[in-house]
Amino acid sequence: MELIEIIKRRHSVRKYTDRQISRINMEKILEAGAYAPNAGGGQRSMLVGIRNRELTTKIGIMNMRGFDRSGLIGSYVSDEQPSVIDDPSIKNGFYGAPSVIVIFGQNNFMFKTADAFCCAENMVLQATEAGISSCIISRGEETFSGDDGKALLREWNVPENYSAICFVILGYISGEQPQTKPRKQDRIKIIE
Ligand SMILES: Cc1cc2nc3c(=O)[nH]c(=O)nc-3n(C[C@H](O)[C@H](O)[C@H](O)COP(=O)(O)O)c2cc1C
Repeated sequence: MELIEIIKRRHSVRKYTDRQISRINMEKILEAGAYAPNAGGGQRSMLVGIRNRELTTKIGIMNMRGFDRSGLIGSYVSDEQPSVIDDPSIKNGFYGAPSVIVIFGQNNFMFKTADAFCCAENMVLQATEAGISSCIISRGEETFSGDDGKALLREWNVPENYSAICFVILGYISGEQPQTKPRKQDRIKIIE
């Protein structure tokens, strides 16, 4: 498959079956993340892959705890793949996906967020190529702010000066692939 086809085939998926992804696919997706462009060539982002449905669900629920809806007026994401913005009854911010990759950035590094999302994009594309559905999820730091979150970071030996930035959830889609939304016009120019 050409890269542009993979790019166009990728969708944010929020409905998953119970089927777990293989360890080999998890390794390949993590490798794609490790090869992402990174500010200053510092390779500062850290990636923790969790291939455990129970733990992924636990962290997904922590991700939604204390979610502030007050600034969401008028926000709308998708009919086909409703997000936590569209449906307040969703309590698991990882939507039942069986695997997740947590992306950490080094505190006080000005490009930690940009680096993290570069890793995330590489990983969702690698997942798509392998036939695995995914979605990038935000609110990394808030997710681990409670005692249970801090305990997990200690268990995983995440350095004190690192914080979670975002996530890539992974699994197999339940139901139909969503349609690709038409692209807004006039967003692209070429100047010669
Ligand atoms: C920076 C960023 C943060 C996102 N955070 C979330 C999130 O927390 N929860 C979620 O369901 N989707 C999240 N998404 C997925 C977007 O909603 C999705 O990319 C967008 O609706 C376009 O749909 P598509 O990815 O299927 O093209 C995020 C995407 C990006 C790029």
